[in-house]
Amino acid sequence: MKILVTGGTGYIGSHTVVELQQQGFTTVIVDNLSNSQAGVIDSIEAITGIRPVFEQFDLVDRERTADFFSRHADLKGIIHFAAYKAVGESVEKPLMYYRNNLVSLMNILEGMMLNNIPNLVFSSSCTVYGQPDELPVSELAPIKKAESPYGNTKQISEEVISDTIRSSKLNAIALRYFNPIGAHDSALIGELPLGVPNNLVPFITQTAIGLRQQLSVFGDDYNTPDGTAIRDYIHVVDLAQAHVVAIKRMIGQQMKKPFEVFNLGTGNGYSVLEVIRSFERVSGEKLNYRIVGRRAGDVEQVWANPAFSNNELGWKALKSLDEMTASAWKWEKAYRSRQ
Ligand code: UD1
Repeated sequence: MKILVTGGTGYIGSHTVVELQQQGFTTVIVDNLSNSQAGVIDSIEAITGIRPVFEQFDLVDRERTADFFSRHADLKGIIHFAAYKAVGESVEKPLMYYRNNLVSLMNILEGMMLNNIPNLVFSSSCTVYGQPDELPVSELAPIKKAESPYGNTKQISEEVISDTIRSSKLNAIALRYFNPIGAHDSALIGELPLGVPNNLVPFITQTAIGLRQQLSVFGDDYNTPDGTAIRDYIHVVDLAQAHVVAIKRMIGQQMKKPFEVFNLGTGNGYSVLEVIRSFERVSGEKLNYRIVGRRAGDVEQVWANPAFSNNELGWKALKSLDEMTASAWKWEKAYRSRQ
């Protein structure tokens, strides 16, 4: 059972490759290493004992992508992570985001159709809901106008997939992630943003280890119990396991319709200050932070209703917030000590 994982050297991709290999799948990684390092392949091999096949190229390149698929027509499915994901950068460079995130998807769908590779799992995001009118948010909530070009690429991608499926024999599952954090228990793979992190947890761990001076908490005047924004943080290994369940569901022909959408969250919302407290509790470190103004484009609060994924996929996120922050800290320390 051969599965293509695009973006397989990235944060969520690498954890998913590990889970796939541990469940007997053969994996092929395609990544252009624009936001990850080839050394991740060694780490995956160290964890699983199996070295995934790795091809370094850009999926925006139509000829290269077509050539890849013609050589791998025996793929049983594709998990497509490879995309840009920095909200602020997407506002500065919208065309870069639209070209990268949409053209690569179209090239992949074309390759699937030409080579009869039927199954696609797509990395989507809770950003498609914007600030939901009702919480927790279910898959039936309306799609709000995107706050950023990045968010818009996720909305458009879901539409491109849905339209393509309607006119072909392809199947797809879009997984809408809430906020993945934490790292593999081995501390051999984890989140490794190049440059200054945009996301909360890598900024926390890099501040605690001394790489950043101070964490800025973006806003304490939200309409939430402690005034800071609330998100549904989910452990990256729980998230990765959902991808294996999704790919098995497709291969086992258990889908109820050719395009399914699932929320991947825990159902629990935590504020920024609660995440900081959790980090301080599990690490024993005092975090240097200060409250600053709100970050443009942030929603106030969002957390998932995971009932549909729990029931339909038979999957549930199991790890607690303290387990998530502890594993992120363990990874940060282990990675820096190896440098
Ligand atoms: C964002 C996107 C999400 C995207 C994800 C990928 C939005 C609304 N969401 O998630 O769609 O998939 O990035 O990278 O744009 N925070 C601080 N200080 C920091 C960093 C973050 O206080 O230095 C706060 C944020 O204001 C937010 C929370 O921490 O309240 C989580 O932020 P982050 O980790 O960046 O994730 P999202 O913004 O939720």
